[in-house]
Amino acid sequence: MAEEHNPKQIAGFAAADLIEDGTVVGLGTGSTVWFTLVRLAERIAQEGLRVQGVPTSEDTHAKATELGIPLTTLEEVESIDLTIDGADEIDGSFRMIKGGGGALLREKVVASISRREAIVVGPTKVVERLGTTFKLPVEVVPFARAVVTRAAVALGAEPHLRTTPEGAPYRTDNGNEILDCHFPEGIEDPEALELALDAVPGVVESGLFLGLAQVCVIGHPDGRCEIRELEG
Ligand code: 5RP
Repeated sequence: MAEEHNPKQIAGFAAADLIEDGTVVGLGTGSTVWFTLVRLAERIAQEGLRVQGVPTSEDTHAKATELGIPLTTLEEVESIDLTIDGADEIDGSFRMIKGGGGALLREKVVASISRREAIVVGPTKVVERLGTTFKLPVEVVPFARAVVTRAAVALGAEPHLRTTPEGAPYRTDNGNEILDCHFPEGIEDPEALELALDAVPGVVESGLFLGLAQVCVIGHPDGRCEIRELEG
């Protein structure tokens, strides 16, 4: 029987090999990016690769520090050469839903100043239409939760407050809450929805990432790795 590979490991490792010497690298968040961090740390130790990483969450900050990856801050750098991040869904135009790990705000800030963003996923994250396999996370200021909930319903969503295993409202690294928004038919017009959500007072950021990624690295269970570049 053919050996089963971990698609996250295949994609995460391959993306780390895209990192060039002397560059500033955005370090995404999640279990797929974990493999990128491991391989990057290996390259630093073995090849003497010189990089400065910008972490997108407290979790990634802790993991990168533990692995000995040199870090910097947005005070120190104005732009990022390459960011490697995961996604919860990605479509054929590299539009994404992100924020399953709750790091959407910092991930979007880092993506916004990145010259290139490479997304690491397994094949199950690749979808025809966003919102069909994953709820859209929306980060909200706690005071505005009820207001944003009603606005999300008016936009066709079924919002659910994200909670901890103990049942308390989940808090992001920025002290905000997350409404996970289910769209029964998927998201028909991601661009229009992003504009509408951004216009609601109390919304900090939505997990719609549109026009931010240029590369998609897909790991497969049979060990293959596909690297797709956005056309046009
Ligand atoms: C965190 C994210 C992650 O990138 C996304 O949830 C994918 O995570 P994983 O690689 O663990 O499946 O957006 O906010």
